[in-house]
Amino acid sequence: MKVTVVGTGYVGLVSGACLADLGNDVLCLDVDPAKIAGLQQGRLPIYEPGLDRIVEQNVQAGRLRFTTDVVAAVAHGTIQFIAVGTPPDEDGSADLRYVLEAARNIGRHMSDYKVVVDKSTVPVGTADQVRSVISEELARRGVEGRFAVVSNPEFLKEGAAIEDFMRPDRIVIGADDEQAILLMRALYAPFQRSHHKLIVMDIRSAELTKYAANAMLATRISFMNEMALLAERLGADIEQVRQGIGSDPRIGFSFLYAGCGYGGSCFPKDVQAVIRTASRVGQDLHVLTAVESANERQKMVLVEKIVRRFGESLDGRRFALWGLAFKPNTDDMREAPSRVIVAELLKRGATVVAYDPVAMHEAERAFGSQPGLSFADSATGALAHADALVIVTEWKEFRSPDFELICRSLRQPVVFDGRNLYEASLPEAAGIEYHAIGRLTVAAAAAREQGTIA
Ligand SMILES: NC(=O)c1ccc[n+]([C@@H]2O[C@H](COP(=O)([O-])OP(=O)(O)OC[C@H]3O[C@@H](n4cnc5c(N)ncnc54)[C@H](O)[C@@H]3O)[C@@H](O)[C@H]2O)c1
Repeated sequence: MKVTVVGTGYVGLVSGACLADLGNDVLCLDVDPAKIAGLQQGRLPIYEPGLDRIVEQNVQAGRLRFTTDVVAAVAHGTIQFIAVGTPPDEDGSADLRYVLEAARNIGRHMSDYKVVVDKSTVPVGTADQVRSVISEELARRGVEGRFAVVSNPEFLKEGAAIEDFMRPDRIVIGADDEQAILLMRALYAPFQRSHHKLIVMDIRSAELTKYAANAMLATRISFMNEMALLAERLGADIEQVRQGIGSDPRIGFSFLYAGCGYGGSCFPKDVQAVIRTASRVGQDLHVLTAVESANERQKMVLVEKIVRRFGESLDGRRFALWGLAFKPNTDDMREAPSRVIVAELLKRGATVVAYDPVAMHEAERAFGSQPGLSFADSATGALAHADALVIVTEWKEFRSPDFELICRSLRQPVVFDGRNLYEASLPEAAGIEYHAIGRLTVAAAAAREQGTIA
């Protein structure tokens, strides 16, 4: 099938490459000429495991091409995926500017039947807006073009995007046009060889499904983060509680890890966007409002622990920081807890030496040149002369460190672990003062005894 993908970011590039890998003829369009020039020369704009190989193979096979030429992109695909960004507007609602611009371009240039597929995460009602801007453009041109608008939200996870796209749990299609449904069924047929995964529904339900899914996952995380704070006060261990509740099949183990808050390009903005959508139609979302504020607070939990340990002023203190990306296996730093933590430490007069296996170039872009912030070449390289180590992202390479080496390298053997990576007894046996989130550590017991838990 001929497919155009508009937007070559995390979702667009993965979708385009995977659809090409299944034999489709895919043209990816982006407004960013540097991104397209890089892709045309084989340079990927993002880090996503396995993506470079799929892109390279399919480019070589002639099934995957990249362009900034809007006219060619509209002419190419019968199916036009819109996978552009929907960042939060000033009030937190989704900014639809890029989606509607992409739709307008389709209306301006289409000359045969098109299925316009919203793959971006968009608020309920967006398909109607997409339909009307395309109709407006057709009317302006005085032509009668036939087209359908479909909602096909994407559920891939950065870091496992290829696997998620190629082996989806479900494929949600919101549509009211029979021909469009047939084409979407044909496009996704290769994904359904083992069992049926396509869930066809009305467009508004499909649009809401994506927000409901992310909101549910964010809720689980904020719930566990609050339970962890409670566990700390009560002298319980959130890890044991997690295992105790996760084994209940009605609850399950996924998304039950306590930590220093969720980030990324999806949960924060999608939770905010659904709250705004709800308030616009007069519906309060009490649970999600609490989920959001609990997460904002959680991003500060490590800083609060650091301040309790070292005092309000961190002047002259130096911290090693492991992990900048919002989660492992990605270089994405959008809304990452590391942004809040680094900014807060610098504000209090500390210096930070950060290390991340892949996100350091992204961090340099995100933070700009900040006096007080520097980057190390390796995890151990960040430790020298630091007063403490702060762990923010659970990269694999941080999971089994040499605790003796950490203890020797730090000026003071103190570790603040925002991802609960270790059994407390391991760092503690090496002489490390180990602070985690809701765990039974010696440090937590001492804080409780002294009544210093804020
Ligand atoms: N990143 C994820 O893990 C993920 C997962 C599921 C859904 N989503 C949703 O998918 C959408 C895209 O997210 P992303 O992370 O891929 O975004 P991104 O910012 O990585 O990429 C968006 C791309 O669209 C391009 N673009 C903007 N306007 C354009 C236009 N008019 N024509 C052509 N290109 C244009 C930008 O230059 C950019 O390259 C968002 O709505 C997001 O919420 C993201």
